[in-house]
Amino acid sequence: MKASLSNAAFGLFKKYIHDKCGINIGEEKAYLIETRLSKLLVDAQVSSFEALYHKIVKEDDASMAVKVIDAITTNETLWFRDKTPWLILEELLLPKYIEKLRMGEKQRIRIWSAAASTGQEAYSTAMCIDRYLEKNAIKDITLSHFQIIATDISNTVLEIAKKGRYDAVSMIRGMAPEYKDRYFTKQGMAWKIDDKIKNAITFKSFNLQNSFVFLGQFDVIFFRYVLIYFANILREEIFNKLSTTIEKEGALIIGASEIYHQLDRFFDMKHHTQGTYYMRRETNEGTYSR
Ligand SMILES: C[S@@+](CC[C@H](N)C(=O)[O-])C[C@H]1O[C@@H](n2cnc3c(N)ncnc32)[C@H](O)[C@@H]1O
Repeated sequence: MKASLSNAAFGLFKKYIHDKCGINIGEEKAYLIETRLSKLLVDAQVSSFEALYHKIVKEDDASMAVKVIDAITTNETLWFRDKTPWLILEELLLPKYIEKLRMGEKQRIRIWSAAASTGQEAYSTAMCIDRYLEKNAIKDITLSHFQIIATDISNTVLEIAKKGRYDAVSMIRGMAPEYKDRYFTKQGMAWKIDDKIKNAITFKSFNLQNSFVFLGQFDVIFFRYVLIYFANILREEIFNKLSTTIEKEGALIIGASEIYHQLDRFFDMKHHTQGTYYMRRETNEGTYSR
């Protein structure tokens, strides 16, 4: 018989998930816990959600905790998602940063894909940079001048990202033939990304609830389609941390359909073509903490 989620079990998991990864599940989304965690009842050999919760917490079962996070996180992503970030990169940021590298004002440009999922965002960035350098016949600056760090809380998606192998369905989601032909090789049923692009990314496990201090400073931060799952208070904390993690003239890029009023305390919105990005506000009433 299918187990149903009681109010008490919903409350326990809601708090557990919020504490572990910041994801806020309202009552109207209780079905998410019920549908996504029901498979774990079988894995854990228990018959109710309360029993599952107590097994995870009491036995401090790390592998089950990982499974809960994997089941509850939404890993939806695609190549060159929203299009405009890559135009901003090509038309505005790359010319500026290449100039700074040439002038010796910077030794390298640091880019962070903060909720990387299966890697499409970070790889799109590396391909965009490499293609830009090639198209403009730039030889003195190479992809190795750009350090791209990609992080996620879910080790399952990070493992897929690190492999750099994608099935046909993932490949049609946002990938232009120009990039597919240039950077991918067919291997059986999958498409494998070039080692040059793969090796340009460092994938790491990281919980965005933690301090950003050890990650260092970044020139460009992609922070897209993850804050939507967080409560307002955590969003505000994250914008505060981002404001000290981004370089003075750095660009913060969020999802094209994301709007957060808390951002205004720390960042100014800038427009380029059809897209937007954010720059750290120099005078603000925010209190910075990392
Ligand atoms: C919808 S995907 C976004 C992927 C990509 N940024 C994009 O825009 O295509 C959201 C990702 O955020 C990750 N995530 C959720 N909570 C997190 C947390 N507390 N710390 C780090 N990553 C988290 C999920 O595992 C998931 O892979």
